[in-house]
Amino acid sequence: MEKGTYTFSKKELFKSLTKNIEEKYSVTVHLANIKGKRWSFIAGNDVKNGLYNFKKFKINNDLGIIIFKWDKLKEGQRDGIIAKYKDSLDDSDFSIPLNVDKIIDFLESKDTKSLFDRADRIRRKYFSNQVHIRAIIEFSNYCKKDCLYCGLRKSNKKLYRYRFTFDEIYNIAKQINSFGYKTIVLQSGEDDYYNTDKLCKLISRIKKDTDCAITLSIGEKTFDEYKKLKEAGVDRYLLKFETSDQNLFKKLKPDSNYENRLECVEILRELDYQVGSGNIIGLPGQTKRILAQDILLMENMDLDMIGMGPFIPHGNTPFKKEKAGTLDLSLKTLAITRILNKIVHIPATTALASIDLHGRQKGLEAGANVIMPNLTPSKYREYYEIYPNKVYIDKTPSQCRKDIEKMIIKTGRIISKDYGHSLKLKI
Ligand code: 5AD
Ligand code: SF4
Repeated sequence: MEKGTYTFSKKELFKSLTKNIEEKYSVTVHLANIKGKRWSFIAGNDVKNGLYNFKKFKINNDLGIIIFKWDKLKEGQRDGIIAKYKDSLDDSDFSIPLNVDKIIDFLESKDTKSLFDRADRIRRKYFSNQVHIRAIIEFSNYCKKDCLYCGLRKSNKKLYRYRFTFDEIYNIAKQINSFGYKTIVLQSGEDDYYNTDKLCKLISRIKKDTDCAITLSIGEKTFDEYKKLKEAGVDRYLLKFETSDQNLFKKLKPDSNYENRLECVEILRELDYQVGSGNIIGLPGQTKRILAQDILLMENMDLDMIGMGPFIPHGNTPFKKEKAGTLDLSLKTLAITRILNKIVHIPATTALASIDLHGRQKGLEAGANVIMPNLTPSKYREYYEIYPNKVYIDKTPSQCRKDIEKMIIKTGRIISKDYGHSLKLKI
């Protein structure tokens, strides 16, 4: 493309984005052309005050932005704004339209290297070498539902069931925060023992006494319940759709309803949660076409977080004889998802680590930017058996933590000290 037109269309994009940013955050942003060490002005409003309070950011080799009154911005807002500019001013490099057939081609392709490299480049561009850690507490393994693939299903009578008291959950949350982690994920089966009012009290208490973002992953609730939980201080919510195919969904989740599940995600978004959803890769009955449709659905849902992991058969479920999802397919799905969702948080999941010793690391190298270590106390960990062979089952939380931190550093990345909020600013 000719340079002139390139700069012109970028300038238009810059103007429309800057109008929103300046109104919302009371900063001033300039667009600059970079030649060597020289930054020359292309566009932007006059700087009235705060002329010396600025920071420069490179968008690519020849474009940069300068943000004035930089100190007015909070940490999460800073990252979000820079990501927005990078996204709109420098996306030409990665914009390939993907439809179902093209995604299937990628899923079947042997050339994984170029796919993973592309995903890795995008991940690096928006998140640099920062890895966000989300510490999980699996506080109850009771579940009223009977999903065919899951070891926690209510028909699994062989499983020892446990519940933490509210005080136990609170104490573990405090401990996690004392390790320096800034996100606590509270996860359980669908267990009505924890009624919403009591959960709200617990959440307010944790929010008051720790410096942490809270993510909930406790299944389908009503609008009013989600609303109360949000008001109590929950920041984020994870609710996977599991499969985008309605027939398959009906078979796999006999006591859930596809529309209702997607409606729950919509409600969460409406209530201003940072929302995560996702699928399972290689589920029995899942074709490549269904998987490709899952990937497109995740993109259409415009999520803040996307969680995907391979299916792993569990011995006490009807799927005990089925094949597990493969590492190859899981990493390809992850990489394509990253290419389509540049600024979304994507974890290298525990399920990935369960099918391959270096699964987490490989996930981080194929587009993931998040790790979710399990900090449930050891004596309960073996009972939270969604699927078997969960890694680190025999290790203490502090060993898990150290191993994961070592692995992150080994891959040349650093552990973020930030909350790791969504980069999708609501503008
Ligand atoms: N294999 C992989 N993932 C599973 N999940 C449940 N059962 C399995 C399994 N057998 C995932 C679901 C659920 C999350 C808690 O665990 O995606 O949302
Ligand atoms: Fe319960 Fe979730 Fe397992 Fe379904 S996938 S049985 S809802 S824990």
